[in-house]
Amino acid sequence: MSEERTEGERLAELAKRRGYFFGASGAYGGAAGFYTFGPQGAALKSNVEDAWRDRFTVQEGNFEIEAPTIMPEPVFEASGHLDGFDDMLVECPECGESHRADHLVEDNTDVEDAESLPIAEVEELIADNDLRCPNCGGALAGEEIEDFNLMFETNIGPGSSTPGYLRPETAQGIFVEFPRIKEYARNSLPFGATQIGRAYRNEISPRKSIVRTREFTQAELEQFVDPERDEPDLDSVEDVEVTLYPATEQGSEDGEYVETTVGEAVDESIVGDAWIGYFLGIAQEWYERVGVDMDRFRFRQHLAGERAHYAADCWDAESEVDGDWIEIAGFAYRGDYDLSKHGEHSDDDFTIFRQFDEPKTVERAVVDPDMSVLGPEFGGAAADVKSALEELAERDPAAFESETVAVTVGGETKTVDADVANFRVEEQTVSGEHITPHVIEPSFGVDRTVYTLLAHGYNEDEVDGETRSFLSLSPTVAPTDVGVFPLVSNVEELTARAEALVDDLRESGFSVVYDDSGSIGRRYRRQDEVGTPFCVTVDRDGLEGDGPDTVTIRERDTARQVRVPIDALVEELRAVSDGERPFDDLVAEYDLVAPGADA
Ligand code: GAP
Repeated sequence: MSEERTEGERLAELAKRRGYFFGASGAYGGAAGFYTFGPQGAALKSNVEDAWRDRFTVQEGNFEIEAPTIMPEPVFEASGHLDGFDDMLVECPECGESHRADHLVEDNTDVEDAESLPIAEVEELIADNDLRCPNCGGALAGEEIEDFNLMFETNIGPGSSTPGYLRPETAQGIFVEFPRIKEYARNSLPFGATQIGRAYRNEISPRKSIVRTREFTQAELEQFVDPERDEPDLDSVEDVEVTLYPATEQGSEDGEYVETTVGEAVDESIVGDAWIGYFLGIAQEWYERVGVDMDRFRFRQHLAGERAHYAADCWDAESEVDGDWIEIAGFAYRGDYDLSKHGEHSDDDFTIFRQFDEPKTVERAVVDPDMSVLGPEFGGAAADVKSALEELAERDPAAFESETVAVTVGGETKTVDADVANFRVEEQTVSGEHITPHVIEPSFGVDRTVYTLLAHGYNEDEVDGETRSFLSLSPTVAPTDVGVFPLVSNVEELTARAEALVDDLRESGFSVVYDDSGSIGRRYRRQDEVGTPFCVTVDRDGLEGDGPDTVTIRERDTARQVRVPIDALVEELRAVSDGERPFDDLVAEYDLVAPGADA
C-alpha cells in the first residue's frame, strides 16, 4: 500500500502522525502558508540550524548577528524590494481565487522557468494553452497579470505615518548594520556575517506544505570581499565532486549535467566566480553530512531572466522530491549592489578603507572659496555652496574652466565666479582609498532542508518478518540521539538501571528518550520511525553475568545490536554518533546479539 503513495503524501502523513509539523492556528481554521513545528520537527530544525551555524559561522570564523524582523520602509526603498520584489498574479474572473501565473504555466505546459519570462509572454501562454483556474475551472485566457509585491506591510507605532515591512530576507538586517559590523572585523576585508532567522513573504499560492510558506527560516551568510584582492581558500574544496546544471545546458533537449570537481568548475569557468565555487564546495559537503541524498541533489545555475534584481550570477542547490526539483539554497554574487544602495540612501558609511601597498602621490582638484564673498552673497547657504563646490571639483574639474560655476543647493542654482572658487590642482600623498565591498551570499532555506531530510530519509524494509518504516536521519540532526529502554517494565532492577543511564547520557550531552511501554519491538519501531539513530536496552543478561554489567546498542538502519560494557557506553555512543567510528567497528569488537533475541 505504501508503495502507491507519493513521497510528499507519505511525508505529510508522517509529519502529522509524529508531530513534525502541522498547519498553524488550526483551532481557528488556520491560515494558509503558516506551519507549527511540533516537538520532533522543532528539534530536527534546531539541529539543522546548529549544524549550519557550526559550519558557516564558527568554522569560517564569521560573525553571527540577530537583527529585528520588522524594518522601516526606507530600508526596502534602498534595497529595491519595494519596487522589484514581485510575483506574477492572475485572478480567476469566476471565483476570485488568486494564482501565481508562472506556476500555472510551469504546471500545465512544457515551459520550465516561466518566472524568467516577460508578463506578456506568460499571458500569451495562458491564452494559447487555455489554462484554467485550478479551483473552479474558470477560463484565465485574456486575464491581465499583475505584479504583486510579496512584502507584508505594517505600521510602526500607533497611526500610519511610519510604515514598516516584515523582512522578506534576513540579508537586509546584515546589510543595514554593515557600518557597525565592519568595526568588529577591524575594518578589514574579507569577512562574513551570518544570520539565522525568520523571513516573511506573502506568497500568492503557498504550496507543498513547508516548501513554500509565508513565514519561514533562512540561514544566510553575507561574505564581504575586496573584488580585486580577496580570494577564497579554494584548495580546501577543489576536489569536492559536484553535479552542476549550467544555464547553457538548460532549455535544450540534450542539455546535460556536468559532473566535475569544484576546482575544475572554477578553472574552466563553468562557475564564473571562485567565491561561489568555494561555497558550492562547502555546501555540498554540508548537505551530505546532514543527510541529503546526494544522488538526488544538484546545483543549477539561474537563467539570466530568473535572477533576483540584485544578483549578477546565481546558482541554486536543488533537491529532488517526488520527481520535482526544489530550490533549497541560493548562491548569489550580489556585487556592490546592496552596500552601494544603502550608502546612497542613508548617511552612514558603507565603504571600507583599502590601504595601498605603498603611499601614492596623486593629483587632486581642490577649491578654497573666498568666504568673504560667498558669505554676503549667499547668507545662510554659504557653507552649503562651499561644500557643493568642493564636491564638484572632485567630480568634474572641467566645470571650473568657465568664468562662472553653477552648483545646486537646496534645489536652487547658485552661480559663483570661478576666481572666487579658487580652483587648483594639488599633488597629495594618499595611503589608500575607500571601496564598496562586493558580496557573495549563500542563502539557505531551513524549512526546505528539513523537508528534504524527511523525504530522503524515509525507508522501508523487513525486520523479524515485519515491514518497518524508518527515517534514516544523520546523528548530526536527528531529533533524539538515543532511546533507552528497560527490556521489561515490571522489573525494578532494569527500570532503575535504565533511568540511571538516561541521567548519565543526558549529563553527557545526548538528547534521550526513555520508553518502557509496550513490547520492545514496538519501542524500536517508534524510534525507527522518528529517526533515532541508536537505542540502548537494559536486560537481565547484561546485569547477571560474571563480568562487568553490559547493555545492548542497536543501530537504527541495520537493526544490528551489540553488547557493550556499561562503562564504555557513553564513549562508544559518542564515537558512532560523531562518525568517528563506524558501527561495523563495534560489531567487530563486541558480541553481536542475534536478531529478535530480545523481542
Ligand atoms: N537573500 C537571498 C534570498 O532570500 P531566495 O532564493 O529568495 O534568496 C533563499 O531565498 C532560500 O530561502 C531559498 O533557497 C529557499 O530555500 C528559502 N525560501 C524562499 N522562499 C521561501 C518560502 N516561501 N517558503 C520556504 N522557504 C523559502
